[in-house]
Amino acid sequence: MKNNKKNFYITTPIYYASGDIHIGHTYCCTVADSIARYKRLSGYNVRFMTGSDEHGQKIAEKAKNANKTPKEFVDLMVNNFKKVWKTMDISYDYFVRTTDENHVKCVQKVFSKLLKEGIIYLGEYKGWYCTPDETFWSDSQVVVENGIHYCPDCHREVKYTSEPCYFFKTSLFVDKLLKFYKENPKFCPQDKINEMVNTFIKNGLEDLCITRTSFTWGVQVKEDPKHVVYVWIDALLNYVSALGLYTDDETLLNTFWSKDSEIIQLAGRDITRFHVIYWPMLLFALNLRLPDRVLIHGLLVTRSGVKLGKSLGNAPSPYPLVERYSVDALRYYLVREMNFMQDGTFTPTQFIDRYNADLANNYGNLINRTLSMINKYFDGVIPSVDENNIKNKLTKTLLKETKEKAKTYFTLMDDYNLTLAIATAMEIFDLGNKYIDSIAPWDLAKNNKLDELKESLYYPLELIRIGSILLQVVIPNKASTALDLINTKKEYRTFDSIDKLYSLSKTKIKDITPLFPRLKKEDEIKFLTDLIDKK
Ligand code: ME8
Ligand code: MG
Repeated sequence: MKNNKKNFYITTPIYYASGDIHIGHTYCCTVADSIARYKRLSGYNVRFMTGSDEHGQKIAEKAKNANKTPKEFVDLMVNNFKKVWKTMDISYDYFVRTTDENHVKCVQKVFSKLLKEGIIYLGEYKGWYCTPDETFWSDSQVVVENGIHYCPDCHREVKYTSEPCYFFKTSLFVDKLLKFYKENPKFCPQDKINEMVNTFIKNGLEDLCITRTSFTWGVQVKEDPKHVVYVWIDALLNYVSALGLYTDDETLLNTFWSKDSEIIQLAGRDITRFHVIYWPMLLFALNLRLPDRVLIHGLLVTRSGVKLGKSLGNAPSPYPLVERYSVDALRYYLVREMNFMQDGTFTPTQFIDRYNADLANNYGNLINRTLSMINKYFDGVIPSVDENNIKNKLTKTLLKETKEKAKTYFTLMDDYNLTLAIATAMEIFDLGNKYIDSIAPWDLAKNNKLDELKESLYYPLELIRIGSILLQVVIPNKASTALDLINTKKEYRTFDSIDKLYSLSKTKIKDITPLFPRLKKEDEIKFLTDLIDKK
């Protein structure tokens, strides 16, 4: 659970302030939020940051179409972002904007410093530009079909552009980067590293064009004002500008971007190259440490494998889902059904099946049946059991297996294997339901075996407590409602309290309202299909 690093810094990509948040961004923020919550519960000093990427041609164009100045436009977008994150219970500590004065100054200072040192130089750029992705591609990278050139990433048409621009001298850092990959196998999954090396580095990494002169909505280069810093260098620096890099007060930087801090950065596989090649190089250039890990996550795609995205307009908004099924149901789906490192889909059947199987029929069912029987047999008062005299062998096995599941959960979470960790926590409720099926409290009641009856209902409550504690990271609201139902005191809601059984006895349980009412498949398929088809 704990290691000797007290500080923990976690970041998401900063999303383009060019359109509304959809379930893709929601996925990444929910994963980051679950990790942040886990680390807070594990006793770390956590700083969790998300934000918005607000410069560039695409955003300037969008603003123009909306009859707004770019700043007016991004202000609106940022309000929308923050509203979604509030709805999704994203517990970020800081929201960074690339239009923040601090950030702009930091980018300018970095530019000046690297220009002086010769790491940045003026040259001429010729290449293919993908406006929606704000990315340059070389001849060998673009896809050509019937004489038309397409972006190898999003498959939209690219434009050939030629203009003076400043370059970042990547060649200075290639060897250092390759050495770093070798010495830090946990930095990023090996298959991603291989992909990066084979696609971009092996045949000679080109210097990176980092300014533009064809638009003005960006951070101006002080030394050459007709240039603005092209979005990626601007964007990547957010991770340290927001900690105060090159300001009068670098306390946060020294706390969270230091050797004593654990640094985890999330990014979708669509932006692997920037986070696994250019970002480390920029950090080398600035003599700053590299993150412990860049967790590259998979994307939500359509059934035919097309990425759900803002600019393609095919991704549902989280709002109607939250409204109908609860924020926790959506959060749970995203973390559990998506396999962390792989692409995944959001389909009506998948959503309903996952909800019913795990939340309604497993977790919800264990709560309902245990509490109903406590109402029925004990007037709602949680019975006491004799901890030194466990009567049934099944109970002993149950406790042993639960303990093992909890241990596995922590090992998986500590390795950021969220999907499996959450699945393991859910298995605790499986154990509970199977235990009740086998021990059959109703028979014990019929046969007047009072002590055994108490035992058969008390321990499932402990499983509800333990499982809910582990699941708080992903379903904070429902887990805490479950803990309330069984009167869990504050000190018995912590990770440290998992092994401390017997605190629940003698209190009266609250009235049960189902946490996750079972969904009627036909009705919900219709609702969800309409929602997705509208897109
Ligand atoms: O790339 N499934 O911003 P962006 C899962 N501003 N995650 C998705 C997703 C999907 N279908 N679509 C988007 C940018 N995401 C830059 C980042 S960082 C210094 C600058 C998530 O608005 C995923 O994390 O296009 C992806 O990497 C990110 O949003 C891209 O967001
Ligand atoms: Mg994108």
